[in-house]
Amino acid sequence: MILSGRAKLAGVVGWPVGHSLSPRLHGFWLEQHGIDGAYLPLAVAPERIQSTLRSLADMGFRGLNVTIPHKQAALALCDDVAPLAARIGAVNTLIFEDGRFKGDNTDAFGFLENLRQGAPVWDPAAGPALILGAGGAARAVAVALLDAGVPEVRLANRTAARAEALAADLGGAVAAVPWAARGAALDGVAVLANTTSLGMTGQPPLDLDLDALPAGALVTDIVYAPLETDLLGRARSRGNPAVDGLGMLLHQARPGFEAWFGVAPEVTAELRAFVLAT
Ligand code: ATR
Repeated sequence: MILSGRAKLAGVVGWPVGHSLSPRLHGFWLEQHGIDGAYLPLAVAPERIQSTLRSLADMGFRGLNVTIPHKQAALALCDDVAPLAARIGAVNTLIFEDGRFKGDNTDAFGFLENLRQGAPVWDPAAGPALILGAGGAARAVAVALLDAGVPEVRLANRTAARAEALAADLGGAVAAVPWAARGAALDGVAVLANTTSLGMTGQPPLDLDLDALPAGALVTDIVYAPLETDLLGRARSRGNPAVDGLGMLLHQARPGFEAWFGVAPEVTAELRAFVLAT
């Protein structure tokens, strides 16, 4: 891609950032739409995040994606924070406009869009959800499910206090269940989401008995390396619909791309294949 002096600039700030798939993903869309623009991987140490964001904005960047470990710091630096990002407590998308930092969180959107595309028959109102985990990803997933109309959210986390704190924070429809009772907590659910790192390449396996999982309940995993986790494979083999985690990453990128580059991009099979071919 040949850039002009007016090229629109965006990127992802993280520490480290070398593992990020976002430059490839946005690069695909830039190429596809013939946009005079670039999306760069930007390694920024935590102690330099504030000054670097200011410099990038001063240099004309349209905005940035924000990844680990900067999502909370980015929220604190924003002039305007979208209500959803405030509830999630993290910003993953920054838009620089008129000298102001606008912060949003598109992880909940990405999570839901992935389910809508991958399992169009799933009705959020159909029944309770069980979420495994209580970290930042669990928070975005819980908010997404509640806002979509899921009537009850159960949270199971190894460290019970984190699940209890998240449940207390999100309110009435969310309840913590003991980690040891995670299999039994599948009783009656319409959706199961793993937001822990268990099952990821190099991490321990996810030990979860699926016997109590209702037939027809949707299963999803935010882990996408491997794409087909043991959880998804076991769910599919007993006939449950299952949606892998790559789509969440692809869909969460859409609002930022549109804001920075002015084109609403699509998540297609071709994009998935391109991003996976690394
Ligand atoms: P993120 O922000 O991506 O959600 P995180 O805050 O580090 O990342 O959360 C990782 C999740 O995986 C947590 O729910 C963590 O459980 P704890 O809160 O008990 O740490 C969960 N997790 C990681 N390793 C685990 C393991 N070996 N067994 C059970 N849960 C694990």
